[in-house]
Amino acid sequence: MSDAYQHYIDGEWRDSDGDSFTSENPATGETLGRFQRATDEEPDRAVSAAETAFEEWRSLSRIDRAEYLWDIYHELRDRHEELGRAVTRECGKEISEGKADVTEAWHMVEWAAGDARHPKGDVVPSEIPAKDAYMRRKPRGVTACITPWNFPVAIPFWHMAVTLVEGNTVVWKPAEQTPLCGQIIAEMFDDVGVPDGVFNLVQGFGDTGAAMVDDDRVRTVLFTGSAEVGHQIAEAVAGDPSKRAACEMGGKNAIVVTEEADLDIAVHAAVMSSFKTTGQRCVSSERLVVHTDVYDEFKQRFVEVAEEIAVGDPLETETFMGPLIEADHVDKVSSYNDLARTEGVNVLVDRTDLPDAEVPDGHEEGHWVGPFVYEADPAEPLRCTHEEVFGPHVALLEYDGDIERAIEIHNDTDYGLAGAVISEDYRQINHYRDHAEVGLAYGNLPCIGAEVQLPFGGVKKSGNGYPSAREVIEAVTDRTAWTLNNDEDIEMAQGLSADIKTRKD
Ligand code: NAI
Ligand code: MG
Repeated sequence: MSDAYQHYIDGEWRDSDGDSFTSENPATGETLGRFQRATDEEPDRAVSAAETAFEEWRSLSRIDRAEYLWDIYHELRDRHEELGRAVTRECGKEISEGKADVTEAWHMVEWAAGDARHPKGDVVPSEIPAKDAYMRRKPRGVTACITPWNFPVAIPFWHMAVTLVEGNTVVWKPAEQTPLCGQIIAEMFDDVGVPDGVFNLVQGFGDTGAAMVDDDRVRTVLFTGSAEVGHQIAEAVAGDPSKRAACEMGGKNAIVVTEEADLDIAVHAAVMSSFKTTGQRCVSSERLVVHTDVYDEFKQRFVEVAEEIAVGDPLETETFMGPLIEADHVDKVSSYNDLARTEGVNVLVDRTDLPDAEVPDGHEEGHWVGPFVYEADPAEPLRCTHEEVFGPHVALLEYDGDIERAIEIHNDTDYGLAGAVISEDYRQINHYRDHAEVGLAYGNLPCIGAEVQLPFGGVKKSGNGYPSAREVIEAVTDRTAWTLNNDEDIEMAQGLSADIKTRKD
């Protein structure tokens, strides 16, 4: 297996006895690398290494731990171009998105490492003047990070940066579609000399992720990916009250365009939200809820762009949409497009099968799917307007009446991740802000484009709102309420008697 990239466990590159798998460029079919697939042994070894490393790592100061992250920060910046291209070549998003993935990663590292010098915890008042009371945090221990392919650099750092600064150790399994980005990140950890066992990389598929989740020594699981797997993980840890899983999953996100909307903003925001990353963001919008007064004009303008949007080589700067991640995903998106037809919607744009002439030379093996846009009745319980497709599959839903009706349609989904309202009427905007059932809400903006210093995560089936930004601190630490008596006598709160009474009294 010498030609295959290895796992990184306990500070060493290691072979395993498993099969190997390849990473393929979704735009060309080119093989980017061969990787060893973990057997049962690698997650086990990696967790052991992380468990052993935990005692020493937690005993460093937060500031010392953060110093390692600052070194990673510089690596990410110095290797921006290289890593951005690797993201684009491995997951197919166009090059400005590939680079933005890396930028977002260093923003997260900057946030976590910078936070190390900020005050932490609370000084809490006590009823008893001689008592000092504090809230302190302790790291929980071995943390399993399981990440998806659509942000192969940013999401791992959303998981790992804060986790490490807080004093936990990490076993990370990247998505099987993007192991090369995993390899490059592991090289960075190796280069900066993070102590052995603090960071471990295990390459593999869902079975490897499941083995990490099931390992009793793993205290916390951070997961981003499908609702199906996220709910399995939440269930798997539910039996152990001391174990914790923070899961961020998908959405069936919507944008509301009211009768007061500036349609330049509306069309721009909708195109960005629906087609960036070829619709493969957890926050991508697959529903556009548009007021009847502006519906026809919005429809005409949105359709015009969807017909013409540039699909092609993601390394070219004039491309807007790259390919889908893999052949199975082309099948999934195409079958949802077929389903929409079967459900009787009115198809407005169908570029599901791109004509050969639109596929760039040398990219015939790519996983090409263009925009699919249709109008449907929001009152109908259609699967296509309620289930997450994760592609450029967009429903226009016309509404009549006030913002309350728009909100009803907007919230008519099991998910609750992201959404936006486009309006010039601040009362409508505020109503949306207060009633949209989402974790990330935007006014006069696309519903994509999170920044690391804001909370990230959804409600309802979309997740339990943890694996991101400062919320990760909650997930990867336990709080201790620490109280110290400075007196020589014991005095209790609530007037509780501290006298000891004996039979002699
Ligand atoms: P997935 O949820 O299967 O994979 C995400 C990660 O979980 C990968 O590292 C995978 O190896 C791992 N995994 C898979 N099964 C596991 C298990 N039983 N236990 C532990 N770890 C496991 O997502 P996949 O297959 O890549 O995409 C399927 C659908 O999920 C997409 O079509 C989309 O709807 C949604 N999705 C949402 C994402 C988001 O950003 N919220 C990202 C990726 C996918
Ligand atoms: Mg899967």
